[in-house]
Amino acid sequence: MRLLFIGDVVGSLGRQMLSDYLPRLKKKYHPQLTIVNGENAAAGRGITEKIYKKFLQDGVDVVTMGNHTWDNQAIFDFIGDAKKMIRPANFPVGTPGMGHLYVKVNDLELAIINLQGRSFMADLDDPFRIGEQLIAEAEKRTPYIFVDFHGETTSEKQAMGWFLDGRASAVVGTHTHVQTNDARILPKGTAYLTDVGMTGPYDGILGMKREPIIEKFMTAMPRRFEVVEDGRGILSACVIDLDKNGHGKKIETILINEDRPFRE
Ligand SMILES: [Fe+2]
Ligand SMILES: [Fe+2]
Repeated sequence: MRLLFIGDVVGSLGRQMLSDYLPRLKKKYHPQLTIVNGENAAAGRGITEKIYKKFLQDGVDVVTMGNHTWDNQAIFDFIGDAKKMIRPANFPVGTPGMGHLYVKVNDLELAIINLQGRSFMADLDDPFRIGEQLIAEAEKRTPYIFVDFHGETTSEKQAMGWFLDGRASAVVGTHTHVQTNDARILPKGTAYLTDVGMTGPYDGILGMKREPIIEKFMTAMPRRFEVVEDGRGILSACVIDLDKNGHGKKIETILINEDRPFRE
């Protein structure tokens, strides 16, 4: 089974990069399933129904989220009906939406789990214990289990990778928006990458306009951050191959920008 995972789509530039390159990525890599993190899709904050539907139209199969899930109120109008979208599973009990789902991949089934870290992030339920419970449940149905671990610190993401080694088929990090160079298959067969990186503005700071961020660092005064809407784009992704036991066989990173043009 081959999966394509595309990292945090940020604003209109990110959405444009996704529509421009997804068909070409599919043609080159032939993934059976495409997963996209959409937590920053609506101007850097959250997602709307229109964007969610456009993602599916563009060829995305499943959308994962993160700490920006609730930033755009429009989500409350459709999250209850969004069958192809998940938000972190360790959000408190009673939170709208789902934290995991199952999708058919030909005659197989893939479990997709979204979790969020707690280091330098909100005080959520324990992603390790909840992740372990969801995997124990998923293992009864399928050996193919993908985890998007949305976390701030490298250590917490590495800890999750090692904790789930041999149980999850893949643990891939999101949230820090810069792709890491540590894609590997862990010894018991989990494909691991600390962060897949973002899809959106290439010349911002994590996708946002630079000036207010630099000013904030220099003055410690509050500043309003706005997404970069024009200019050069970047797309960050990875392709993961799983064997018939659901183990990671290969994980390869993809980075597209003006400095690293896409090759068909
Ligand atoms: Fe993000
Ligand atoms: Fe995030």
